[in-house]
Amino acid sequence: STIENGSFQWSAPSNIALVKYWGKKENQIPANPSISFTLNNCKTITKLAFAKKDADGKFTFDLLFEGKPKEDFKPKIQKFFERIEIYCPYLKAYHFTIETENTFPHSSGIASSASGMAALSMNIMSLEKALNPNMTEEYFYQKVSFLARLGSGSACRSVKGSVVVWGKHAEINGSSDLFGVEFPSNIHQNFKNYQDTILLVDKGEKQVSSTVGHDLMHNHPFAEQRFAQAHQNLSSIKTILESGNLDAFIKIAESEALTLHAMMMTSLPYFILMKPNTLEIINKIWKFRNETNIPICFTLDAGANVHVLYPENVRVEVLQFIKGELVGYCQNGNYICDEIGTGAIKI
Ligand code: PMV
Repeated sequence: STIENGSFQWSAPSNIALVKYWGKKENQIPANPSISFTLNNCKTITKLAFAKKDADGKFTFDLLFEGKPKEDFKPKIQKFFERIEIYCPYLKAYHFTIETENTFPHSSGIASSASGMAALSMNIMSLEKALNPNMTEEYFYQKVSFLARLGSGSACRSVKGSVVVWGKHAEINGSSDLFGVEFPSNIHQNFKNYQDTILLVDKGEKQVSSTVGHDLMHNHPFAEQRFAQAHQNLSSIKTILESGNLDAFIKIAESEALTLHAMMMTSLPYFILMKPNTLEIINKIWKFRNETNIPICFTLDAGANVHVLYPENVRVEVLQFIKGELVGYCQNGNYICDEIGTGAIKI
């Protein structure tokens, strides 16, 4: 069928990894499997308008970020289109207008690549589904995640489901290196509405892009042990998410965060992405946990910001602790309250 013009609009959330993806092979194939909580409030909203054009053999698109033309984002999108071309040959038949915005501040240190690539991929697949209405829902979501992966690896975990696994793992049914899958078993009540308060320690541009970071795992002295450990931690966290063992959850989440940073500190060249305030916050969290027995913990992505994870039933006490003792370590006192979400939403 042919479609002359139209538009779609989707929001897609960010996600926070529990077992981290760090290191990849050719074609965005992860060196180890990872698992993440899908977020709810930190998201990208993207509208894709399309109009049929005369064949010119090129990708053509305009890009508006927060309503204004944004030239410096275009090369990333151009590269993404080139990468997915063989899977989406219809793209060159249209001129696109992409309008995108984030619900969290740009340059907040929260990466928008996962939510952004997932939102764009949802729109592209909506067009493909319009052209090919017989496609199954399963195929649709798998291919969205597959395309998002080619945009930014972790983006494939921002499509569908509250807890998402990416990367082949013997104990996770249906898991694949090519796309993210919803965690296949039931999640214990303890993790329902799990909270993630993101403490914005440093909003500066990342010192190390994730592309450079993944590359550092080539010839890294601890790479093989690290990849094996990620498999073990994923096995453990699978049982933990089913059984609701929060103490065991905390150990894996924190160890994974510190290991991610340890990999950067032991690569060549080496990097320290934590800031003094990152460590102050970690120590305060440990002290608070020891004194109160409240099961809060932290995780980190490839930067200085701290994600504070805790169950919904201790929200009041934890927010009081954060406001009283942790906001002082945040840049301009900034933090974002988020929680587990369910994935992309059509608008
Ligand atoms: O998706 P990328 O290539 O930006 O890599 C993300 C890597 C981490 O955020 C550090 C870990 C993860 O699994 O999300």
